[in-house]
This record gives sequence, structure tokens and C-alpha cells, in this order.
Amino acid sequence: MSAPLRIGLAGLGTVGAGVVRLLKDRGPALAERCGRRIEIAAVSARDPSRDRGIDLSGIDFVETAVGLAAREDVDVVVELIGGAGGAARALVEAALGAGKSVVTGNKALIAEAGGTLAPLAEAHRVHLRYEAAVGGGIPVIKALSEGLAANRIRTVRGILNGTSNYILTRMEEGGTSFASALADAQAKGYAEADPTFDIDGTDAAHKLAILASLAFGVVPAPHAVHKEGLAGLTDLDISAARAFGYSMKLLAVAEETPDGLLQRVHPALVPADSPLAAVRETENAITIEGDYVGRSVIQGLGAGAGPTASAVVADLLDIARGVPPAPVFGRFFPRLAEARPARLAARQGGYFLRLKVQDRPRVMAAVADTLGDAEVSIDQMHQPHHVPNTPVSIVLTTYDTDEAVMAAAVERLARHPALIEAPRLIRIEA
Ligand SMILES: NC(=O)c1ccc[n+]([C@@H]2O[C@H](COP(=O)([O-])OP(=O)(O)OC[C@H]3O[C@@H](n4cnc5c(N)ncnc54)[C@H](OP(=O)(O)O)[C@@H]3O)[C@@H](O)[C@H]2O)c1
Repeated sequence: MSAPLRIGLAGLGTVGAGVVRLLKDRGPALAERCGRRIEIAAVSARDPSRDRGIDLSGIDFVETAVGLAAREDVDVVVELIGGAGGAARALVEAALGAGKSVVTGNKALIAEAGGTLAPLAEAHRVHLRYEAAVGGGIPVIKALSEGLAANRIRTVRGILNGTSNYILTRMEEGGTSFASALADAQAKGYAEADPTFDIDGTDAAHKLAILASLAFGVVPAPHAVHKEGLAGLTDLDISAARAFGYSMKLLAVAEETPDGLLQRVHPALVPADSPLAAVRETENAITIEGDYVGRSVIQGLGAGAGPTASAVVADLLDIARGVPPAPVFGRFFPRLAEARPARLAARQGGYFLRLKVQDRPRVMAAVADTLGDAEVSIDQMHQPHHVPNTPVSIVLTTYDTDEAVMAAAVERLARHPALIEAPRLIRIEA
């Protein structure tokens, strides 16, 4: 058997501790797969004295994570600290600069700083691997960069954030409010103490920018992703969507359009019988459409110690086997194009609209007239039961129309004197 692959592991939280556990549990079996043992030479975290429920005996603890990059007994650095800058970025830059391969689960870092890190890794001919950064344990990075590499990809569509999917599942199946579904997600440890990036779509936008880079050959551009989060979604939106035959999801979509590359993250109604509707709780799923392969769907646990450690160790196995470093985003960095962002206004599709109006005669007719004047055709329309002389909600869905046309019609509706609050518009994805 060849000499062991020695790793320096920074971050001993949920994922880092999971990696330590997996390497310990499966040591001999992993060595059989890659022909050598994978050993942890040194670790780093903020608090050296914390009991993490893992056995670190015989492993050096390094005070400052960046110190791992300079150690002669470290072949590969595993970065599981998190964040687009700070200690994580300093460590990854130092390791790549020192000619050491890096494995990370850090989507913020790869999406935001990939444009600096990829050329550095490629110049030093080392690996920069990040399977764990998107879809937890689902091997979607490998699917796009290897298994589907022969295709021209048309669309990548996915549920990429487990926390928001858990919240939407609880709202849909348990009839709970957004606030109590979020509290439940936090109590179960699915949501961070500060769940902002999960709820406002930032986390999904980071992941989508990475998938779009691999699929479409562009530099990751998280700031080009149109982003809307879950804020303002009500239980009525969820129950009405269900009554209309749909399920509400926080969807991430990257697609080639005649206008350029459209990247968007927003709540969307998907048909109740579609594969994405069946993705419950903290699961993730990604649908990829390629010209030769057709449609592929991959689904599984998108977060948590076990699934994420599984993805980190898969990357380590490739490095241990001596697989040569591949271009970080599927093509060598100078071959990546700057994404030409398409306007969301060019999107075509159906819409769900919720309006809150005063209880007056002919308001339903006025809504239908305003949409009709804009040549938006209503598919289904419903006014849930209400108490007379109190505000009324109207929910409807439309047939396919241009986003720009729909937005103009909604703007006109928003000026109607009977309207009590801003209309809520949600896209329907076929
Ligand atoms: N959790 C998941 O399910 C999941 C899924 C996919 C990807 N990821 C990604 O994996 C990475 C790690 O996530 P996590 O959930 O394991 O995070 P976590 O539980 O918060 O753990 C972070 C770890 O980093 C350590 N750390 C923080 N600042 C440090 C510094 N300056 N120097 C050295 N160590 C430092 C912390 O040390 P202390 O323990 O001493 O505080 C902690 O051990 C992130 O990039 C995350 O986005 C996570």
C-alpha cells in the first residue's frame, strides 16, 4: 500500500466532526478503495478545549488555521470553517499557494471567491474540490463536471436549501405559519441561530452560481442571481397553491435564454405531481436537462453531518487515488466566459397572484378586467370564505405570459382603490 494521504482539517463543527467520525469508522474500507490510508495529521478550530464527541487523540491541534497550509506533514487541507472571507479564505489561499490540494464544503467561498481561487489552484496544478458545497451528500458537482460533461446543458433547476424546504413542508403539511415552521426548524437544528441566508435565498444563490458555472462554462456570479426569499409568504399562499394543484418550493433555476443566462432563486409553484414537489423536509433535488442525455434528476439529503461528510470524503478518495487535478469549474479558468445576464422580464410562464381587497361589489370583476386588458388570461380564480365587511383575499393563477406584461398588469392592480396591501406575485414553473 502507498504512503498515507495526510490531511489538515480546519473546522470541527457539524461537518468537520462528521468527517473525523467517517474517516475513523470506515478507515480500512476507504483504504481498500483508494489504495492508501487517509490520516488526519492536524486539526484546527476556535476552541481547543471543547468536547466535540470525537476522538482526536494523537492528532496535533493548530491554534491558527492558516498554519495548516505550511505544515510538511499535511498533503491536503480540508476547510470546514465557512464564510466567504476571513480564516477560511486565508487558509485556502495559503494552501493552494503552497501547492497543496484543498477540499471544502464552503459554497459562499467557492461562489464569491472562485474567480481568485480557481486560477490559483490551476496554476499550482492542485485540486480545489467542493462536492459538499452543493446538495450535501448528493454528488451533483461530479454529475455536472464528469457524468454529464458531454452535453450542452439547457437548464439546471433545483431545491438547494434544506432549511427553507423544511419550512415550506411544515407549512404545507402541518398548516403552520412561517414563524412557527422556522422555530421548529431551529429547534431541530436544521436552521442556524441566524437563518438569514437560508431564508432570503442567499445560500441557494451561492449554490446556483456554482452549478451554473459548471453547466454553462461561466465564471460564478452570485450577484447576477435574481433573488427573492420566503419573506411575506402566508399560509394562504401555501394552501391556495395546493388547492390549485401545486406545491410551493424555494426554487433555484439557471437557464440559457436567447437573451443570455438567466439565474434566479425565488418561491415558485411546481405541479403537485412533479419530481420537485415530492422533495420534502431537508431534502434537496436537482433536475438537469442536457441535449443528449435528456432530463436527469438527483435527490437526497442536502445537509447534516453524515451526508456532507460523505461528499467531503468522496473528494478525498479521488485525491488519494491520484486522480489528476481537473479544472475547478469544468473548464480551465481562462476558458470560462463572463455570464451575459438575461433580464428576468423576458421570462415566460404562469403566475400565482394573491390580492387583499376591500369587501365591495364588483372587485373580482375589476381584477379580471385589469388582467384581461393586459391580455393576461386567468386559469383559476378563488375567493376564500370570509366574514362580510372585512378585507377579502383573492387568489388566482394565470396561463403563460411574459413577466414584463404580468408585472405591468400587477402594477395597475396595485393602484386600484379597493386594494389594501401590495399584491403578491409568485411564479409557476412547469
Ligand atoms: N452543516 C451542514 O449541514 C453543511 C452542509 C453543506 C455544507 N456546509 C458547509 O460546511 C462548512 C462548515 O459548516 P458547519 O455546519 O460544520 O459549521 P459549524 O458547525 O459552525 O462549524 C464551524 C467550525 O469552524 C471553526 N472555526 C470558526 N472560526 C474559525 C477560525 N477562525 N479558525 C479555525 N476554526 C474556526 C469552529 O470552531 P469552534 O467549534 O471551536 O467554534 C467550528 O468547529 C461551511 O462552509 C458550511 O457552509 C455545511
